[in-house]
Amino acid sequence: MASRGNFNSKIGFIAAAAGSAVGLGNIWKFPFEVADGGGAAFVLMYLGFCFILCFPVMVTEIAIGRKTQKDPVGAFGALGFPKWKFLGKMGVLAGVLILSFYNVVAGWAFGYFLEMLMGNFAIGGQFGDYIKDVVKIGAYGAVFMFSTAFIVSKGVSGGIEKASKILMPTLLILIISLVAYAMTLPHAMEGVKFYLVPDFSEINFEVVYSALGQAFFSLSLGMGALITYGSYVSKEENIISSAALITLTDISVAFLAGLMMFPFVAYMSEGNLHEVTGGPGLIFATLPGVFESFGPILGIVVGASFFLLLSFAALTSTVSLLEVPVAYAVDELKVDRKKAVWLIAIIIFIVGIPSLMANGYSPFFSSFITYMGNDNPTDFMTLVSDIANDSLLPLGGCLISFFGAYVWKKHNLNEEIAQGYPNYHGSFVEKFINIMVSYFCPIVLGIIFVLTVLDRFFGIALV
Ligand code: PHE
Repeated sequence: MASRGNFNSKIGFIAAAAGSAVGLGNIWKFPFEVADGGGAAFVLMYLGFCFILCFPVMVTEIAIGRKTQKDPVGAFGALGFPKWKFLGKMGVLAGVLILSFYNVVAGWAFGYFLEMLMGNFAIGGQFGDYIKDVVKIGAYGAVFMFSTAFIVSKGVSGGIEKASKILMPTLLILIISLVAYAMTLPHAMEGVKFYLVPDFSEINFEVVYSALGQAFFSLSLGMGALITYGSYVSKEENIISSAALITLTDISVAFLAGLMMFPFVAYMSEGNLHEVTGGPGLIFATLPGVFESFGPILGIVVGASFFLLLSFAALTSTVSLLEVPVAYAVDELKVDRKKAVWLIAIIIFIVGIPSLMANGYSPFFSSFITYMGNDNPTDFMTLVSDIANDSLLPLGGCLISFFGAYVWKKHNLNEEIAQGYPNYHGSFVEKFINIMVSYFCPIVLGIIFVLTVLDRFFGIALV
């Protein structure tokens, strides 16, 4: 197995897996999903989904990876169920689709780092024009994909592990400092209230499935990223405590990102939070103005550090997204690792070009499709995200838990978890995982998947 590479330490695995989880999903997407989903009610639902539905799926994914030491496609074959390889392939497809548009947004963030360095705080108001400038953001995207491929080509411990161990703690420190600052601003408490005091009248089915999609996306679940990372983990690790740490880190960063954003938004809108539209522009439109108010020098320092770290958070996620198809190509298709990395990165960049142009530059891709029962067209990038994040990931999670409980079978799953966790058998955790994986996860995820697809794409709202 030496040639496949391994994580050198427990902390290295956790840093890499948490690095995969923590990314644009937490800092860019979570706050605007909260804003669109009506605030604290969304937050509560998201937290519930993370612990109850996602955690058992995460444990199952890591266990499958570690047991087989294989990529997500090969893993199902190695367990003796080659028919289930389709599930791994679905994960590879989801990874390719997600990375294709994720890289575009990561490019925006990286570009903002450069703008902040130059003191261009006005960019916040020009966000709409900025994302239309495809030559510029295309170049940023190319730089980003290049950096991702570079790290992945360095292998697991030398590239992925090393980068994550430095980047993750730095990001945490910066966010915590920004939260502390945000709290001192006028109107901060109105932001906190919007964020943390739930208004249950805001909950509808749309909010439920956005929260679920967000939980899966944010925890990097349902597409085999954690099967892949699990395959590099040693048998001495405790899967349960690792998964718990990864989940907690991810939730904490998302939570802190919200705690930073809403006071900022309240401050900028002078307390008129309900007038603020969320959407993908939320952090890009709001934050430059906040940084400007720090004064020219501090504004540049904090603004540039923020977007640099956001880029790094995205980088540890793009690395894990690229690692999935690469591991598949290396393990199953026997392609040389370096070759696989560069080739796949180029392909995914090309797949992402329509998403790059879907934010105003190309009218065709910007109003690409009108879902049934909907009046407004959806752009290409949102379409890819609706298919990959909100549909394929929950479906993947449903099938992975079903596979773990009924195909591979619970006792094998438990056996694998018990390695590195001697008291696991007979414990409460074992009971919890078994019940969730056998009943709750496959059923609830399956139902939500079907309802989501009907509602979103066909305009059929059953609830
Ligand atoms: N979890 C990452 C984020 O929150 C995105 C991601 C999804 C990464 C799926 C890997 C797999 O930004």
